[in-house]
Amino acid sequence: MRTFRVLAITLVLALVAGGFAQEIVLRAADNQPPTYPTVLGLNHMAETLEALSGGRITMEVFPGGQLGDERSTIEQVQLGVIDVVRTSTSPVGEFYAPMGVYSLPFIFRSEEHFWRVVQGPIGFEMLEGLREADMVGLAYYDSGSRNFYTAETPIRSVADLEGLRIRTQQSQVVLDMMEALGADAVPLAFGEVYSSLQTGVIDGAENNYPSYGPSGVRHYEVAPYFTENAHARVPEIVMISATVFDVLSAEDQALVRQAALASVPVQAAAWAALVEESKAAVIEAGSEIITVDLGEFQDAMGPVYEKYEPIFGDLLQRILDTP
Ligand code: GCU
Repeated sequence: MRTFRVLAITLVLALVAGGFAQEIVLRAADNQPPTYPTVLGLNHMAETLEALSGGRITMEVFPGGQLGDERSTIEQVQLGVIDVVRTSTSPVGEFYAPMGVYSLPFIFRSEEHFWRVVQGPIGFEMLEGLREADMVGLAYYDSGSRNFYTAETPIRSVADLEGLRIRTQQSQVVLDMMEALGADAVPLAFGEVYSSLQTGVIDGAENNYPSYGPSGVRHYEVAPYFTENAHARVPEIVMISATVFDVLSAEDQALVRQAALASVPVQAAAWAALVEESKAAVIEAGSEIITVDLGEFQDAMGPVYEKYEPIFGDLLQRILDTP
């Protein structure tokens, strides 16, 4: 498959060099529904790419997990089978370890701190560092803050998590966080969470309001207790296969980067509008919003930091030191 994709792209370039205006068609994967902000971001990237290249480069966006769950789409991007993927950075940490740092609980002090890190030198180094895992990072998208939600047992304090089966992203850092809180971590692909909540395979999960709400994957329908504990702020990322990127001309590589960056404010605007809208919608639908003592959740994270300080070392310190 890999050879086929590389050959296909090389052939395209040969034709371009020979003077034929040959099209380059990229395929992009996203596991969120078609109108979700990340998909709107990818759609904008596709439109920009087409406009900048005079119609020569197109990108077809496949939302809703059509091309596979996050882990599988990341693997396919590594192999050059899928060209582009938008995913949460949590599972990316299993392929390129430094990326796991973003999943550490309470690593970001505020939204401003988050953006200063991911859009500053650290964020940039990480995008480029992905080459170690055969991918090139193009941009980060907003994903707000993550919170717990449960089907039957409301979480009003850390003690309420004891023994609850909580779904985690496919990420060791997230798993360790869950264990530090006393919960039973159940790693599952995002697409399996709704039915697992519905059938009682898990007691709860954690995510942002837009994913939980009606514009996302509608977990509010099966988990009506939403605890605003904001334990993590995990960015979304847009990545391209290094195999695919490296056979593009330098000019086309620049267009791909430019188009991805141009989509960042579009995604961010759609995101900003959706957070409050989703919260209002789930309240209207009957969800109970629970506020908690955040300090208690922060204090419980000691063991996670003890484990990861030596692993992330300087990187972790640089994030904390970012104003
Ligand atoms: C966010 C993100 C998804 C991801 C999900 C998860 O909602 O947008 O891409 O799959 O978190 O919890 O797995």
